[in-house]
Amino acid sequence: MADVKLVVSENGGRARVAGGGSLQGELQMPGDKSVSHRAVMFAALAEGESRLTGLSNGEDVAHTMGVVKAMGAKVRPGALAGEFFVEGRAGKLAEPFGVADVGNAGTGLRLFCGLWAGQDGLAVFVGDHSLGRRPIDRVAEPLRQMGAYIDGRGGRYTPVVVRGGKLRGIEYTLPVASAQTKSAVLLAGLGADGATTVHEPVLCRQHTEELLRVFGANITMGDGKVTVERSSLRATDVHVPGDPSQAAFWICAAAGLPGAQIRIPNLYLGPARDGFLEILGRMDADIVRGKDSVEVRGRRLNGAEILPQDIPGLVDELPALAIAAILAKGKTTVRGAEELRIKESDRIATILAMAKAFGASTTEYQDGMDIEGVSSLTGGGTVDADGDHRIAMAAALLGSLAPGETVVTGWESVATSYPDFAAHLEMVA
Ligand code: S3P
Repeated sequence: MADVKLVVSENGGRARVAGGGSLQGELQMPGDKSVSHRAVMFAALAEGESRLTGLSNGEDVAHTMGVVKAMGAKVRPGALAGEFFVEGRAGKLAEPFGVADVGNAGTGLRLFCGLWAGQDGLAVFVGDHSLGRRPIDRVAEPLRQMGAYIDGRGGRYTPVVVRGGKLRGIEYTLPVASAQTKSAVLLAGLGADGATTVHEPVLCRQHTEELLRVFGANITMGDGKVTVERSSLRATDVHVPGDPSQAAFWICAAAGLPGAQIRIPNLYLGPARDGFLEILGRMDADIVRGKDSVEVRGRRLNGAEILPQDIPGLVDELPALAIAAILAKGKTTVRGAEELRIKESDRIATILAMAKAFGASTTEYQDGMDIEGVSSLTGGGTVDADGDHRIAMAAALLGSLAPGETVVTGWESVATSYPDFAAHLEMVA
């Protein structure tokens, strides 16, 4: 191990990262965040006790566990890290006594809106400052069509109020590729009269469909659409695989650093989660992909075009891919990615500010960016993650490779998804 160190300030809000790292070794990722949220929610709704293993240890999923407890599910930790037993409510959740705090989690908020829409009573969802900037219109609209009452600050922000009740199934075409919207409608459909069908013009992540099937829901998929009918869920055991969106940071950074070598086992590499590997291939990365593992050896990459049709399959990995773009020879272009503007930060703005801090030339577009790679990184100075965990982690990784010291502010956000990131950096840098 080289003597690269990441030092977090006492209040957790900033990290100082020393450069000169090499990226060598093997890392186990935290459990996939998207799968973890769903496993906890579906177990809470099911009849019987589910055993969940490998759950994400991030704050987002801890918030989801807190909310299902407030809705009457019994959650107790098992003996293993990431193991929890959830005693479900057999379809009928309890009306939460106070406000339900989903923390930083956009997925938590949107899926709970769908889940609660079919329940009797009122739920009020609150979250942190970053979540408070992200509108809920795209889930509110179809849920209102199904008969739910949804409101919020300015009609669209937290605190969000959902009065659930009797719903009717709808046929809904997603106006933008969004797994959160698809999932919210399908979850509402579990308790609705008649069938609920979501048409998906572009494939996005399928965790809701995959897991609902495991929990015994009446669901069919194919030909760009998913249909769910009124269903009772049955408790089951779920093992959550490692999170590819977290692995992407190490894989993208190692891919572009000559001499680096990183292996990551036990990953979810299912549909719409592995798009970043294809882009790294286009950038001429040296990657060996196993059934559930990725091994990468670093070399100088070449810039590539990331096209609108690529975006739904890699939307969360763009901050990580930006690392590869910054380290690559020539220009990397991203288009059709306006979704980035409403993530945990305005990720077009925050990615470009980060790229500039490490010496890259950039051009900003409303729906994307150009990044001209550098032949050698300049010192990062101070990079503000703007409360966005993925920007904080990308900046720290770049800082570990750049000369001198980089300071990342907004570091506390990393705990939402990857509390062990700093320890992992120490292991491989
Ligand atoms: C997620 C869907 C994506 C993604 C988010 C997780 C999910 O959001 O960005 O981090 O678990 O369904 P959109 O549905 O808004 O694309």
